[in-house]
Amino acid sequence: MDFFEAVARRRSIRKFTDEVVPESVIEKALEAAVLAPNSSNVQTWDFYWVQTPEKKARLVEACLGQSAARTANQLVVVVADPKKWKRSKPALVEWVKKANAPKPVHLYYEKLIPVTYTWGPLNSFGLFKAVAAFFTGIFRPILRGPFFKRDLQEVAIKSAALAAENFVLAVSAQGYSTCMMEGHDENRVKKLLGLPSSARVTMVIGIGRAHERGTWGPQMRLPNDQVIHRV
Ligand SMILES: Cc1cc2nc3c(=O)[nH]c(=O)nc-3n(C[C@H](O)[C@H](O)[C@H](O)COP(=O)(O)O)c2cc1C
Repeated sequence: MDFFEAVARRRSIRKFTDEVVPESVIEKALEAAVLAPNSSNVQTWDFYWVQTPEKKARLVEACLGQSAARTANQLVVVVADPKKWKRSKPALVEWVKKANAPKPVHLYYEKLIPVTYTWGPLNSFGLFKAVAAFFTGIFRPILRGPFFKRDLQEVAIKSAALAAENFVLAVSAQGYSTCMMEGHDENRVKKLLGLPSSARVTMVIGIGRAHERGTWGPQMRLPNDQVIHRV
C-alpha cells in the first residue's frame, strides 16, 4: 500500500471484529516502530506486546474498559523511560567507534549524554544544571532543558510517540486497524508490566480488524488554513 493511502485509511477504531490478527502483522509493525527517529538515538522506549489472557484482561480494565481495548485482538503498550539511556550507551559508543565518527560525536555519547540524562536525587543535579543554564543564558543562547526528571520523561515520550505513530501506520498499511489510548490508569499499567518509577506509559494501542461500526462518523479535521501557517 502506498504511504499516503496508509495514512488516509488509518482511523481510530473503537470496535473491532473477532478476527485474529496474524502475529506477522504485529511483528512487521514493531519493526517499523523501532525505525522511528528518536532523541540522540538513545532509544529510551520499550514495546510490550501483551499476550496472556490474564494480562490482557488486566490491561483492558486499566484502560477503563474502553471498547477499543476490550474488543482489540492484540494490545501493545508503548513505554518511555529516560533511564534506558544506560542500556543504549555501550552500543552507541561502539557504533560511533566503528563508524569512525568525528570526535565531537564520541564526546557526545561518552560525556554529554550521561550528564544530560542525570537529574540526581530529588532533581538536585537538574536544579544545578538549570541554574547554570539560566546564568549562562544571559550572555549567550543555551539549551533551556531538559534538566529535571519530568523534562527527560517528556523527551523520551516524544520519541516513543513517534514510534507509536510508525506502528499504527504500519498496521494500517497491512489492512488492519488500531486505536491509540492514553485513556488508561497509568499506575495500574505500570504495575502490570513491572515498570520502574522513571517509566511513562506513552500509549496503549489496540489492534484488530475494524468492525463496520468501528467509528461513529467520518474523520474530522479543522481547515488547513487554521492550523498550517506560512510565516
Ligand atoms: C495521544 C492520543 C491519545 C488518545 N487516546 C484515546 C483514548 O484513550 N481512547 C480513544 O478511544 N481514542 C483515543 N485517541 C484517538 C483520538 O481520539 C483520535 O485520534 C482523534 O479523535 C482523531 O480521530 P482519527 O484518529 O480517527 O483521525 C487518542 C489519540 C492520541 C493521539
